[in-house]
Amino acid sequence: MQRIGILTSGGDAPGMNAAVRAAVRSAIYYEMEVYGIERGYEGLLDGDIREMKVSSVSDILQRGGTILRTARSDRFMTPEGQKRAVDMLENFEIDSLVVVGGDGSFRGALELSKHGVCVMGVPGTIDNDLGYTDYTIGFDTAVNTVLGAISNIRDTSSSHERTTIIEVMGRRCGDIAIHAGLTGGAEHVLIPEEDDNINALCRKVIEGRKRGKLHSIIIKAEGVAMPSQELADIIKERTGLETKIVILGYIQRGGSPSARDRMLASRMAFKAVELIKEGSVNKAIGVIGDEIVHFDMAEALEMKRPFDEGIMKMANILSI
Ligand code: F6P
Repeated sequence: MQRIGILTSGGDAPGMNAAVRAAVRSAIYYEMEVYGIERGYEGLLDGDIREMKVSSVSDILQRGGTILRTARSDRFMTPEGQKRAVDMLENFEIDSLVVVGGDGSFRGALELSKHGVCVMGVPGTIDNDLGYTDYTIGFDTAVNTVLGAISNIRDTSSSHERTTIIEVMGRRCGDIAIHAGLTGGAEHVLIPEEDDNINALCRKVIEGRKRGKLHSIIIKAEGVAMPSQELADIIKERTGLETKIVILGYIQRGGSPSARDRMLASRMAFKAVELIKEGSVNKAIGVIGDEIVHFDMAEALEMKRPFDEGIMKMANILSI
């Protein structure tokens, strides 16, 4: 009987549980044995591995986080660590591994594939920073969480007639900022992919105020070089308006996954197991348009997706 392993790795993302559920249940459907590996590559090195049954994934579809837990493993980054991970998989007779995680987790998987392990990457990260896929699992939920925060912050910013900078996650990728900025009606969006235009930003804040706007919301991606407090000080100095910062942080990583993330996670993890069943090896699963796609893991990691200039431009036009 074919035996597969599954782990979640790197920063957790809403929808990881839906992916674990789909992988476990589809593998059992295809008469495979499934082993859950706790705490990502860290747990793999420690042999923290248990068999999963249909009921092991009951009641998790709607839960944020990951029941398998996750970690960022320094030990696994070394050649010795990778050798130990391969040995551990051999000990448990696991020949295929489904890795749910982001860029770093996929790079780890690629190393394992060089030792003969069949790996399947399911993209789970709120950052949406994997170039080969339009969307990653968790991104949609994170954007919706940011929208909730924008709404609350807008109320208090209006009452106090303030400008507020909301710093969002995303590492070096501005997608959370762009999507939340457009759909949340932010006055300005700052992302690492574009040079900051602080003068234009300040002009917009002043002009908005002259037209009677009670507040300004600025969404700034965490990857933008200028620290939020420094930016707030500059805006205050140039506009004369009280300017506050809110760093949303880990709140963006929690919460029940949206329908869209549950759908994406279920479809992608199902595909990963189907590919294993068919004898494919070392693929990264993604979505382009509404189609579930897969690429060779090494090629996928080289692929770049430029940020959506059209949406960014529209966000700025609509927020005038
Ligand atoms: O990759 C997801 C993410 O939340 C990034 O947006 C953020 O920069 C990073 O993880 C934070 O990592 P940690 O959980 O290690 O603080």
